[in-house]
Amino acid sequence: MEIRDFVATMPENLAIQGDFESSAPSNIALVKYWGKLDNQIPANPSLSFTLSNCKTITKLGFRPIEPQDDFSFDFRFEGQPKQTFRPKIQQFLERIFVYQPFLKHFHFFIDTENTFPHSSGIASSASGMAALAVNLMRLERELNPKMTEDYFNKKASFLARLGSGSACRSIKGEVVVWGETKSISKSSDLYGISFEEKLHDNFKNYQDTILLVDKGEKQVSSTIGHDLMNDHPFATARFDQAHKNLASLKTILKNGNLSQFIALVESEALTLHAMMMSSNPYFILMKPNTLEIINAIWKYRAETKTPICFTLDAGANVHLLYPESVKDEVLEFIKKNLVGYCQNEHYICDEVGSGSVFLS
Ligand code: DP6
Repeated sequence: MEIRDFVATMPENLAIQGDFESSAPSNIALVKYWGKLDNQIPANPSLSFTLSNCKTITKLGFRPIEPQDDFSFDFRFEGQPKQTFRPKIQQFLERIFVYQPFLKHFHFFIDTENTFPHSSGIASSASGMAALAVNLMRLERELNPKMTEDYFNKKASFLARLGSGSACRSIKGEVVVWGETKSISKSSDLYGISFEEKLHDNFKNYQDTILLVDKGEKQVSSTIGHDLMNDHPFATARFDQAHKNLASLKTILKNGNLSQFIALVESEALTLHAMMMSSNPYFILMKPNTLEIINAIWKYRAETKTPICFTLDAGANVHLLYPESVKDEVLEFIKKNLVGYCQNEHYICDEVGSGSVFLS
């Protein structure tokens, strides 16, 4: 599908009011999106596990108004008006207006909450933008009931991408690919698609325990981070590597080879951080405890042969990934050897999930 396919025509009847409530989960990238072009087009393809427990729940109330110059909305986060979040919503609405020209004909009440603590260092932009995009698509479908489910999902992902790139991978589960790449037919820079191959049983209910090393604000915003790839000396090689890693991961997800999975996923995480360390200006986003955890994971894996591995986002927290079959022993290991490295001994247990849900 092309960009023009996502431009909605102005519905004749706009006199509807109501509310929708939907949830969307966070996701964890295995092949990382790092670097982008104009209009939220990724510089390289990425692949993620959709999560299950870490999610945003958003209620979108709407009532018709005389169209105005600007968008009209109230925004509440966990029941309270939150001024600091408004600019991000405003920017999102501006970006998607051309695709949903009816937006200025409504006043919106947006009420949102996360199932994970706000100050946990877990980015809520992916789940937040995805949950809002799903609600806005429910409104568009109310105005145009002929819409197919496939179009709904693609456009929800397309809109979410305009809010935050990684959000386009939070509409569906369990594995989502975003960004055009030869090895995945139908892959697109405009939206995420579910991985179509049969996922090996090893990856069913794959576990992700998020070890909260640093719950503070992100040291580098993702916008600044992506920009650093613009004239990065290693950019071309990195983008090329992401295509190759995605092709390899496709095979691994089908054949269930966990040692290859571990090698690829950890290399992607460290490459992401290597890009940040070698950009201008440079950043070290890992903390001493991030490295302590990585070393403890490597030691445990070498000693017990348990197939655990880590990945990292653009921050200090560690995502510990492992098959459901080793859950009990890994949780023991976490409690015994890793919680001490987490801020206030805080960690979150999550697993692969199936994406956004209509709640009411
Ligand atoms: C390191 O999706 O947060 O988590 O498009 O600017 O909102 P924006 O960036 P964002 O970037 C996520 C980067 C990452 C890797 C990934 O999720 O693929």
